[in-house]
Amino acid sequence: MPIKRVSIVRSPAVREGHAILKIVSGIPILIARYNGSVRAYLGVCPHKYYALCSHELEDGRIVCPGHRERFDFETGSPLKGIAPKPLFKLKAVEEDGKIYVEADFDELASLVKAETSK
Ligand code: FES
Repeated sequence: MPIKRVSIVRSPAVREGHAILKIVSGIPILIARYNGSVRAYLGVCPHKYYALCSHELEDGRIVCPGHRERFDFETGSPLKGIAPKPLFKLKAVEEDGKIYVEADFDELASLVKAETSK
């Protein structure tokens, strides 16, 4: 399946210390900014598959609204031990005032379907 670069959001929309959720072709994508860096994750929590949401990071941690697991900004690793595995990390590129994700979106759609049907 082809890797595509898709524009997710304009850079200024993702403020320092915040994460925003965007739905792209039915796929939830979380974009977060911390210390000037941008990271992207599939917006589905690996615990009980709640959708992540736009929020202010807590001490640089991404927080799931479901049971408040906290995830490392850099790696997506769960820090409280609630979720059994890390968030699914996506390749994020910030360029020309926009944030892009490079991924196989067909594969992501299949992954979301598999995860949320458990
Ligand atoms: S669904 Fe995210 S912590 Fe439970």
